[in-house]
Amino acid sequence: MNSYPPPPFSLELAQELLMTHGSPLYVYQGDDLRQTIQHITQAIPYPRTQFRFASVTNGNIALLQIFRASGWGLHANTPGDVYLGLKAGFAPEQIVYSGSNLNRAEMEQILNWGITTLNLDSLAQLQLCCEVFTDRGTNTTPHSLLRLGLRLNLPELTGDSRIGVRPEEFPNAIALTRQQGLKLSGLHFYRGTGINATKAFTEVIDKIIIIAQQLPDWEYLDFGGGFGYPYDHGAVAFDWELFGSELSDRLSRLGREIDLVIEPGRAAIAGCGTLLAQVVSVKWQLEKQIVGVDTTVANLSVPSVHGGYREIVAYAPLPLGVLTPGYRHSLFTTDVCGNTTYSRDYLGKNCQLPPLEIGDIIAVLDVGAYGYAMSSHFLHRPKPAEVLLENGQHRLIRRREDYDVLLTNQVFD
Ligand SMILES: Cc1ncc(COP(=O)(O)O)c(C=O)c1O
Repeated sequence: MNSYPPPPFSLELAQELLMTHGSPLYVYQGDDLRQTIQHITQAIPYPRTQFRFASVTNGNIALLQIFRASGWGLHANTPGDVYLGLKAGFAPEQIVYSGSNLNRAEMEQILNWGITTLNLDSLAQLQLCCEVFTDRGTNTTPHSLLRLGLRLNLPELTGDSRIGVRPEEFPNAIALTRQQGLKLSGLHFYRGTGINATKAFTEVIDKIIIIAQQLPDWEYLDFGGGFGYPYDHGAVAFDWELFGSELSDRLSRLGREIDLVIEPGRAAIAGCGTLLAQVVSVKWQLEKQIVGVDTTVANLSVPSVHGGYREIVAYAPLPLGVLTPGYRHSLFTTDVCGNTTYSRDYLGKNCQLPPLEIGDIIAVLDVGAYGYAMSSHFLHRPKPAEVLLENGQHRLIRRREDYDVLLTNQVFD
């Protein structure tokens, strides 16, 4: 057989999981997740580092609890992220909000939940936050505990992004914060998503630090997420050790005590997740194998929404009666198609897979980030269950939906 990565766990386990929890199924390997968390944590020796997992990528509470138990906090993009984080047991001060475009009620909600670190995306959002905070409502956070930061927008560093505030706006931001008796103490930098080139981060560290020093009350640097994950298993991976040592070195030489916040999303959780599905149909178009599986891009929208690549491997048991022995060991160009007629319903195009049969199991790899979190009811297929594997055991961490979910909140006679 040509090069073909092994599936993440045994055929027997995959069969047992599907038998127990149904197909398709999201499976997370807890031990792998803990190892990745440890790897990232150890790669940044700077002592004042706080890790905040970006739950935009995966909001399953059992997984969030693994981050919490590992000493990480949470990065929230939305009030919903905060809500899930609190339900997972994070203390409000372990949650960093770095989102965009909240209305007044949402800003009140976030502050009333006790969130103390907020990185705002515009002067209007900063003004709103200061006003709501000083109006107090039911929030009881003392002024001294509130940490306000700005998200940076500078095309040469942050690319063509709608997010953030230009350095020219800093003086106004500082003034409006001070008018409310508050201070602007943080700079948040987000390089862009899924960047595997370590240099793209290391080469901008000095510039970011110079910009942060324009804030007279500068106390923390949030270096964001955006760290890549090598979905193509042959590709170069983000070098956490190099990034960690360069960033730590620069901050240690500053001569002042700056807190560092790192909020990895996909880099932390992508690799521990697998979507299992079963083959329901096989046909051939000349040399090309067209495999139909019992899942859809609504269950895993990444390939259709972002054109993202996810490696697909098959559990092909030994040759069955009708096949010539050895035939199952050749690879064929294969399209893996979802169970709808939506024109973009491909889990993978031009994959290299052995000839498959109805009932075979396929595994879509590295779906821990933006997988279940981006699944939807488009195409009206209920969402799969989620299962966590740990210490050789598996446990259900989210139930499979049934068709009733399609009626939720519908009003009809
Ligand atoms: C501010 C911020 N931090 C972290 C993340 C997570 O990004 P990634 O998955 O690229 O690490 C996001 C994603 O939207 C974000 O907006």
